[in-house]
Amino acid sequence: MLKYGIPTAGYSSFTKDSLDDGYAFIDTLPSPYVLKADGLAAGKGVLIIEDKEEAKRQLKEMLVEEKFGTSSDTVVIEEYLKGIELSVFILTDGKEYLILPEAKDYKRIGEHDTGPNTGGMGSVSPVPFADAAFMKKVEDRIIKPTVKGLAEEHIDYTGFIFIGLMNCNGDPYVIEYNCRMGDPETESVFPRINSDILDVFNKVCDGKIASIALDINPATAATVMLVSEGYPGKYDKGMAISIKADKNAIIYHAGTKINDDAVLVANGGRVIAATAFGDSVSDAFNNAYKVAGSIIFDKKYYRRDLGQDLTKKC
Ligand code: GLY
Repeated sequence: MLKYGIPTAGYSSFTKDSLDDGYAFIDTLPSPYVLKADGLAAGKGVLIIEDKEEAKRQLKEMLVEEKFGTSSDTVVIEEYLKGIELSVFILTDGKEYLILPEAKDYKRIGEHDTGPNTGGMGSVSPVPFADAAFMKKVEDRIIKPTVKGLAEEHIDYTGFIFIGLMNCNGDPYVIEYNCRMGDPETESVFPRINSDILDVFNKVCDGKIASIALDINPATAATVMLVSEGYPGKYDKGMAISIKADKNAIIYHAGTKINDDAVLVANGGRVIAATAFGDSVSDAFNNAYKVAGSIIFDKKYYRRDLGQDLTKKC
């Protein structure tokens, strides 16, 4: 990202021999400061510190006093990105690209983004703050240099690129790349693509991206993930599931199976994703929640606050 000028969190790595450079780097950053032990530290090796002098003290403890043993022989100091996350997807053949509908996912188990991370508790597409002006910044500052970087590095890649980014006061910064679609973003992005997706894939493989005109449904798609109580910790399996037919809903089976008695039962932590359309984020989630409520199984849990972060701001 640095090589191709793609905006991401500023960072640099330091050892005890470059402690003074580390202090100087901290001086260039705004608070809070993110200090990461470069080695494995049982999930405890990241410090987020408000105070500059405290950050310098902790840096010394990590590098010189071996706060995390040899895991902190090298420490990465990173700029803290504060904002709201967005998932952007492209299909590319390594030269050209096609931008797919964007989405926002909800990762934490608890309402208002509390508790541990999960495989995803819901998603929504489109995302109101990702308007034309913001997406132009994403395209110019991130997508174009990413695809140019692939070509210049002679990376022969055809497929999806998932760009996880942070909207910091209207400017996009990359948090991560994945060479796949996202889950649970796919469950709200793909229903909005009216075009024949196999035809799209064939054209991407045949180097004909420029000939693709994606037909996108402008309506909002919202997805609510139904999980088994206790997930992402310990949870039960085998509870019978009842699903009411609903032509306005899309039901994705994530952790289900048909048991020996031919009964549909829960068979995983994330059991079913329910997607529905609406005219707005709140309308789409209201509809998805009706579907979520109509699917019955023992120990069903789902977040009831999805979309509220977007409707308050937009
Ligand atoms: N929803 C995040 C991911 O698929 O990695």
